[in-house]
Amino acid sequence: PRLEEMYNSFDFESVAKRVMKPDAWAYYSSGADDEISMRENHNAFHRIWLRPRVMVDVKHVDMSTTMLGCPASFPLYITATALGKLGHPEGEKVLTRAAGKTGIIQMIPTLASCSFDEMVDARLDKQNQWLQLYVNEDRNITKHLVQHAEARGIKGLFITADAPQLGRREKDMRQKYANEAPDEITRSEMSMTRNEGAARAISTFIDPALNWSDIPWFQSITKMPILIKGVQCAEDAVLAAKYGCQGVVLSNHGGRQLDFAPSSIEILAEVMETLKREGLDKNFEVYIDGGIRRGSDIFKAIALGAKGVGIGRPALFAMSSYGDAGVERLISLFQVKYIVLQTNKHTNKYIHYLCIE
Ligand code: FNR
Repeated sequence: PRLEEMYNSFDFESVAKRVMKPDAWAYYSSGADDEISMRENHNAFHRIWLRPRVMVDVKHVDMSTTMLGCPASFPLYITATALGKLGHPEGEKVLTRAAGKTGIIQMIPTLASCSFDEMVDARLDKQNQWLQLYVNEDRNITKHLVQHAEARGIKGLFITADAPQLGRREKDMRQKYANEAPDEITRSEMSMTRNEGAARAISTFIDPALNWSDIPWFQSITKMPILIKGVQCAEDAVLAAKYGCQGVVLSNHGGRQLDFAPSSIEILAEVMETLKREGLDKNFEVYIDGGIRRGSDIFKAIALGAKGVGIGRPALFAMSSYGDAGVERLISLFQVKYIVLQTNKHTNKYIHYLCIE
C-alpha cells in the first residue's frame, strides 16, 4: 500500500510482517516465553478511560515539551532497539534522521548496527540524542563509550537494568540466526552463538553482576543525567532516586525479558504516588515504554505523570517497510491530536495538549 494509506502504527506492523525477512521479523516482533507481557503492554491501555472536560479554550494547543532539558515537539521519543540493519540497510540512521525532522529525541542503542559516530553524525544541528547503555563486564569498554558519548553531546545516559540475561524468545530462537552480523561486537558474539537466535547472540555482552552499588562509579565518569531503564515497580524507582539518578524508564523491555512482568502503564500511577509520598518526585523524571501504539496512549501516560514515552517496535516496523518517510509518517500519526481535556490527578491541572485536527 501507499504510505498515505497508513493510518496508524498497526498498519505499519502488518506491512512489515509481509515485507520483512523472516529472521528480522522474528527478532523484532518476538517477546519472552508466552508473550503475555508483550500483549499486555498495549492491552493495559484499553482499561484506562478518559475524563473529558469541555468548554475550555483549545484554539491554540502547544504539545511541545522538554525531556531532561531537551526540547521536543511532543513527549515522544524513539527508544533504543538493537540491530537496526536487520530491517533496513541504513539501520538506525533512518531513525536518527526521522527523529531530527520531526523534532523528537532518539535514544541510541549500545548494540546498534550502525556505529555510534554514524548515528551522531546523522543528526541535525539542534537535534538531541540520548544513549542506552548495556554495561560490559569490562568496565573500560563501558567507560570509553560513556565518555565518548558525553564528548559528542549526548544528553542522557539510560542504563538498561532488565537484561542481566536475555529473555527466552522462541520465535527468534527458531530462526537460527545465520546472517552476517552488522558490527564488531555482535559479529563476534554471534559467531559464538549463531544457532541460538539473534537475541541470545548479544546477551554475552551484558554484565549480569551490575547492581545499585555501581551507580557512584557511573556518576564519577560522567556528568550526563543517569536514568535506569527497565524499572518495574515503585520500590526500584525509589532506590534509583535515592542513589541520585535523574529518573527512570518504567519498562519491561517490550515484553522481551521477563514474561509476567507488569506493563509500565499499569504501575505508573503507583510509582508516581510513591515517589511523591517519599518526597523524591522533584527533579526526577519518569518515562515509560512498551505498547505505545496510539496518540491516546501517550496522552494517558502523561496524564498519569510520565514526562514522556518511548516507542520501540512501531519505529522499527515503519523503518523496515517505508524507510525514512515511513518513520516520519508514523511519528506524525502519533502526534494526531485529540481535543480531550483531562485533569491530572497529581497536579490537578488541565492537560490540554491533545486535540483532534
Ligand atoms: C528492544 N529493546 C531494547 N532495550 C534496550 O535497552 N537495549 C536494546 O538493545 C534493546 N533492543 C531491542 C530490540 C528490539 C527488536 C526490541 C523490540 C526492543 C527494548 C526497547 O528499548 C523498549 O523497551 C521496547 O521496545 C518498548 O516496547 P515497544 O514499543 O516495542 O512495544
